[in-house]
Amino acid sequence: MTYLVTGSKGQLGSIFVDILPDDLVIGIDLPEYDITDVESVRKVFDCNSIDYVIHCAAYTDVDGCARNPEQAMLVNAIGTETVANLCAEYDATMILLSTNEVFNGNKLYSYVEWDEPSPINSYGQSKLAAEKITEEVLDNYFIVRTSWMYAIGGVNFLHSILKLARFGKEISVVTDELGAPTYANDLAIAILELIKRAPYGVYHLVNSGNVSRYGLARRLLDLTGYNSVDIQPILLGDYKRDSRPPRKGILANWEAYKYGVVLRPWQTALEEFLTNLRYL
Ligand SMILES: NC(=O)c1ccc[n+]([C@@H]2O[C@H](COP(=O)([O-])OP(=O)(O)OC[C@H]3O[C@@H](n4cnc5c(N)ncnc54)[C@H](OP(=O)(O)O)[C@@H]3O)[C@@H](O)[C@H]2O)c1
Repeated sequence: MTYLVTGSKGQLGSIFVDILPDDLVIGIDLPEYDITDVESVRKVFDCNSIDYVIHCAAYTDVDGCARNPEQAMLVNAIGTETVANLCAEYDATMILLSTNEVFNGNKLYSYVEWDEPSPINSYGQSKLAAEKITEEVLDNYFIVRTSWMYAIGGVNFLHSILKLARFGKEISVVTDELGAPTYANDLAIAILELIKRAPYGVYHLVNSGNVSRYGLARRLLDLTGYNSVDIQPILLGDYKRDSRPPRKGILANWEAYKYGVVLRPWQTALEEFLTNLRYL
């Protein structure tokens, strides 16, 4: 089996490149390969026999997407259409990475795979468009929604909080945004299991449980020796940013569970992330 990973320099893509055998994985990313430029991606399909495309490339800056909705649509939706069309032409199975931000966050309980998406920001709208395009173009696809992903060295909430603590800066974090933090290493392994065991379709894959952004930041600082560092609790309504996140964008891995794909609690995943961080 040969895997093509788009966005191979990003948080999740780089993990696939690390854990898959070298002779079975091809990684593509900017600037050499741009998913909005069909010819740059086509040549990879022309020269290789690809079985799976793990499509991680995306414009993932949620506030950036709010400021540049056309760019969000271009990369996340039109770029996905390019990749999906090539998968159809070359008979490759596509795994599209999607997000909890396709939901509006107003549901009382966790979102299951068949809940109706209703995104409230440009990023979520562009990712939902990517999902719809994938479903229209392909029969052989997995859509994997995840949330609050973090990896060592990636651009993510955990590294941002640690940086503020390290430099003694004031830290304010919202108490009323809830989600499931997901360790990218766990997610990558779960995706590889899922595509072996489960039929095509839409899946949620997050570490189990949920927490507020504030609760996550507090746990992180307590585990890293910053117990005495204060975090100012604030409300989403008082936090000035360009995009609005779903207030309760909690995913439940209902479908994956049926096929024995289970992720551990976010607390233990976070501890392992910190252990691995210390070894670097
Ligand atoms: N991070 C999360 O919390 C989260 C949550 C839910 C879902 N997801 C989804 O999971 C996937 C992976 O996320 P991630 O956190 O690993 O993202 P990431 O770290 O931002 O990586 C995305 C990669 O795609 C590249 N890219 C951007 N535009 C491209 C283009 N036009 N052509 C080719 N490559 C392009 C980026 O390059 P540059 O860095 O140079 O732009 C980056 O290397 C994404 O589809 C994302 O929407 C992420």
